[in-house]
Amino acid sequence: MYKILYNEKIAPTIFKMVIEAPLVAAKAKAGQFTMIRIDEVGERIPLTIADIDGKNIAIVYQVAGVTTYRLTEKKTGEFLSDVVGPLGHSTDIRKIGTVCCVGGGVGIAELYPVAKAYKSSGNNLIVIIGARNKELLIFKKELENLGAQLFIVTDDDSLGEKGFVSDVLKRLMDSGDKIDLVYAVGPGIMMEVVSNLTKPYGVKTLVSLNTVLVDGTGMCGSCRVQVGDETKFACVDGPEFDGHLVNFKELKARQNLFKEQEKHACKIRGI
Ligand SMILES: Cc1cc2nc3c(=O)[nH]c(=O)nc-3n(C[C@H](O)[C@H](O)[C@H](O)COP(=O)(O)OP(=O)(O)OC[C@H]3O[C@@H](n4cnc5c(N)ncnc54)[C@H](O)[C@@H]3O)c2cc1C
Ligand code: FES
Repeated sequence: MYKILYNEKIAPTIFKMVIEAPLVAAKAKAGQFTMIRIDEVGERIPLTIADIDGKNIAIVYQVAGVTTYRLTEKKTGEFLSDVVGPLGHSTDIRKIGTVCCVGGGVGIAELYPVAKAYKSSGNNLIVIIGARNKELLIFKKELENLGAQLFIVTDDDSLGEKGFVSDVLKRLMDSGDKIDLVYAVGPGIMMEVVSNLTKPYGVKTLVSLNTVLVDGTGMCGSCRVQVGDETKFACVDGPEFDGHLVNFKELKARQNLFKEQEKHACKIRGI
């Protein structure tokens, strides 16, 4: 059993939870995730390890359906039955030069540990974050504290500049400043647009994919994704892949595989 030390709303529909999970915390690295289960009858869901502090890990979750809704009801001092991990490959962090980290929506929390690790490895760090409005823009202070060049965009112009993260990225690429690596995490469409944008410039681009994971151990195949000529499993081969090789069309179709069941589960629970 894994004790919940904190569970608070940090933005509309987005919560941060801190869990005592010493074995996961001891091994977790930037880019990895955990599979959690609320109780013995709950489904497993994957969530990125957004931060580590001693024997505790932080997860940041957006309410998307039954399990994330049920998580919001958990109180400090209560327990989760399973917190498995760290899972997936960690990000290959080393000194590359200039790294531009791009995050959208709840993906900003997933970006934070990666941006932090690139910065502490001596890279020149540019961070571009965006959300629908300023209330949904999470981790602003944490990213400001990294000492990176930070760009903020909102769809509705309520903070930073109006537009999409890809608008800022395009401006930076067009300006001719050298960017050695782009790392993007957020909604599928955002990662696709970013990958299409950087391809003609020949700038290596990594994306962290949110495919549907069931077992998280490479056994069930639900998370499969086409990367170039190869079929990969996001849980064990990823979750990061070369954005220029990912088949985003297939990815989008597979993300809707369980839509009917998800809708039904919400309906019977009155969510
Ligand atoms: C490697 C990885 C890391 C992730 N990290 C985060 C994170 O840090 N914060 C966050 O808010 N979300 C994250 N997600 C997405 C998160 O797992 C889903 O939002 C969550 O599973 C929704 O479950 P639900 O029961 O609340 O919603 P449901 O109603 O069951 O589903 C809503 C939508 O969530 C997605 N989803 C549902 N079940 C799964 C599943 N088992 N695996 C993946 N996606 C699913 C689907 O797109 C689905 O349409 C991550 C996904 C992956 C693959
Ligand atoms: S989640 Fe089952 S193979 Fe990846």
